[in-house]
Amino acid sequence: MKEKILSLFGFPPPTPLIKTYGPWKNGTTTVDNALIVDGRNVSNAAALKAIFNELQEGVKQIMANGKVLIYSIQPELLEDVHHSTYQRSLEGISRSLAKELGGKGTTVNLIKLPPNVDVKNYKTVEEFFTSGRSAFITGQAVSANEASSSGREFSEKICVVTGGAGGIGSATVKRLAAEGATVIIADMPQMEERAKTLLSDTSASLSEGKVSFLGADLTKADARKQLLETIKEKHGRIDVLINNAGITRDKTLKNMPEHYWDSLIAINLTAVINLTEDALAMGLIPEGGRIISTSSISGIAGNFGQTNYTATKAALIGYSASKSKELKSKGITINAIAPGYIETDMVKTMPLMTRIFAERLTSLAQAGKPEDIAEAMAFLAHPGAESINGQVLRVCGGSFLGA
Ligand SMILES: NC(=O)c1ccc[n+]([C@@H]2O[C@H](COP(=O)([O-])OP(=O)(O)OC[C@H]3O[C@@H](n4cnc5c(N)ncnc54)[C@H](O)[C@@H]3O)[C@@H](O)[C@H]2O)c1
Repeated sequence: MKEKILSLFGFPPPTPLIKTYGPWKNGTTTVDNALIVDGRNVSNAAALKAIFNELQEGVKQIMANGKVLIYSIQPELLEDVHHSTYQRSLEGISRSLAKELGGKGTTVNLIKLPPNVDVKNYKTVEEFFTSGRSAFITGQAVSANEASSSGREFSEKICVVTGGAGGIGSATVKRLAAEGATVIIADMPQMEERAKTLLSDTSASLSEGKVSFLGADLTKADARKQLLETIKEKHGRIDVLINNAGITRDKTLKNMPEHYWDSLIAINLTAVINLTEDALAMGLIPEGGRIISTSSISGIAGNFGQTNYTATKAALIGYSASKSKELKSKGITINAIAPGYIETDMVKTMPLMTRIFAERLTSLAQAGKPEDIAEAMAFLAHPGAESINGQVLRVCGGSFLGA
């Protein structure tokens, strides 16, 4: 998302900063306009009032495009009823505040930690949510497990991006390549030329050697097998598997032709599960591995004419949640990203009014860019994001759909 430039139009000059970060590694945006509030001790009305006061003071000082991050404890992990109840109130506050501050491009998010952890172990999470990298994420409550950073540096990672020649996919390829990772695009064979064009003149150019293209129709079992065999032979492992390939075939349920249903389920769901399970069964995804699937907020809210699409996108959220329990002991995380309205070729076929509504019905009142999703992918793929597992991260500008 382009950060709003309200501060250029007569907004007051910077007031004293509440917290300063940066500069960020790898050329990502520096944001020194962040308010971080630790609400983990809130267990009664007086403590909640103190948070109100702190936030009120903070939001008066924060400038446009600011970042508000609130720490809480996952209520379900607390035995004390009062503590658990009041922790939940922080979720309500952050969701409402996101709507109030969205007009100035400021985001508000809540991180729900386990009890008795050291917040310093969540540096990667904090950096992401207080930087421009999360500019299109707001009003979210993200649960994090215990953290103790480990794993290979990003530059040593082998990443596979399915649908890597598409809008979101190619932005993700560029982002991971900018981190120095080796990236393999897995897309329909006929998309190789498109990938070359999209990625030329970037550090992810196919001629540079760090990024390669493998053609595969992922709905075909033999093509998936060939893909994984080739990756095993050339790279030995997959540190980051991004299941991003997807299509839409919209019709109301009553009028939906069977082939719309079948083709969509085949690519958006069964191909994802089969590719992931095969990669795991072949031992290709090592400890520290990351699996990220592109879901959609439609999979959370439902959408007219999209029963097939939303069946798959909801299922991917379910797959991450249930598979995460099994993979936890192997040190592998699996998460879903739910984009909202993102300007890519896929949405160009939508009627104009639908597109205008999709933009307006968000706290930030604008559409996202493929780069917003790419940043979220890079965040979840990061070695320091090990605490995020089995989650769905909405990157939707605070869309009111399903919120
Ligand atoms: N654009 C949005 O607003 C939006 C919103 C929510 C979710 N998403 C999801 O994000 C993902 C990427 O979407 P996008 O907007 O970049 O779309 P896109 O059409 O630009 O890219 C999709 C890619 O998937 C590839 N693909 C399709 N079928 C394939 C198959 N059988 N085998 C291999 N590759 C195949 C295509 O060739 C294409 O490169 C999709 O899963 C989509 O459902 C997009």
